[in-house]
Amino acid sequence: MIVLGIETSCDETAAAIVTGERRVLADLVLSQCADHAPYGGVVPEIAARSHVEHLDGLVVRAMADAGVGFADLDGVAATAGPGLIGAVMVGLMTGKAIAAVHDLPLLAVNHLEGHALSPRLIDETLSFPYLLLLVSGGHCQLLLVEEVDRYRRLGTTIDDAVGEAFDKAAMLLGLGYPGGPAIERRAKDGDSGAVALPRPLAGRPGCDFSFSGLKTAVLHAVQARGELSEQDRADIAASFQTAAADVLVDRTSNAIAQLSAEDCTPAALVVAGGVAANREIRHRIERLAASRGLPLAIPPARLCTDNAAMIAWAGVERLGRDMIDPLDAPPRARWPLDEGAGLARGAGTPGRLGPRA
Ligand code: KG4
Ligand code: ZN
Repeated sequence: MIVLGIETSCDETAAAIVTGERRVLADLVLSQCADHAPYGGVVPEIAARSHVEHLDGLVVRAMADAGVGFADLDGVAATAGPGLIGAVMVGLMTGKAIAAVHDLPLLAVNHLEGHALSPRLIDETLSFPYLLLLVSGGHCQLLLVEEVDRYRRLGTTIDDAVGEAFDKAAMLLGLGYPGGPAIERRAKDGDSGAVALPRPLAGRPGCDFSFSGLKTAVLHAVQARGELSEQDRADIAASFQTAAADVLVDRTSNAIAQLSAEDCTPAALVVAGGVAANREIRHRIERLAASRGLPLAIPPARLCTDNAAMIAWAGVERLGRDMIDPLDAPPRARWPLDEGAGLARGAGTPGRLGPRA
């Protein structure tokens, strides 16, 4: 089985070719980071126009890299949401056009399902159910992945996503965008105990997250210092990163306990999404999983940040289960994996230029 994957939900234009035997024949990602950096966040209109400009050429290059023609494909998987609606439409319409012209099945993939299933692309032994900590620029959730297309949300953020908090903290420290990698670099030279920052919701029951109080505390720490020295920046970055890691560990630990109380034994703890690239967070979650006797799977960084290989792989999983979509499948700005769960109390991501997945 050979599937073309297309991803355009936010600021990465991506195309990949993946096989049913888990071989990634091509995996191309074109970041628009430089286009959005002057605005400190993703500008939806710029993102959509840039996808239009680059996607066709990228698909052609991916096919050439893989050495396959359209006649060799068994399906076309394109992200149908959630994300910036104009951006999603570009990739989904391109996928539909290819599917229509070459008479191929269309897989309209939920971007979050792409992240959720990505560890199965690299680990064929990973079986359902598993506990997923999804940490990206637009999402911060704990999900029980029961099967393809079957998810149970255990917790979600009631305000900001953790990646968004990294981006905002970096902006307050004048470290540029995207903030996650910048904070991680600066934190290396800082003292994580130097600045007292809150751990919102930590120690409280449940698995929901909150990061807006932490972000505000960073703002106050910056204001209190007036002119920031390089050491101040490093200390605040290190203190912020450790506080964010503490919150993620606390809530994930509650999720493990909740499942155990239900007599549900997940096959593994999986961490996915762009923030999973953070080394301190990886180490802390590694320690948590080890202490609970739970195998841990964290896809390599390239597969953690937005890419099309995970969309192609979700397409492989869906095609194998005959979950084919009609050519009028709609693009969706909002598309929770657990549709029955509804919005979390106070949910929303105020202050961003646009929703991210
Ligand atoms: O999954 P992703 O590539 O895009 C979506 O949001 O869908 O995640 C991007 C987010 C950004 O907020 C970025 O700052 C964060 O992941 N990020 C990191 C690191 N690398 C990326 N956060 C903390 N540490 C990192 N090393
Ligand atoms: Zn993503």
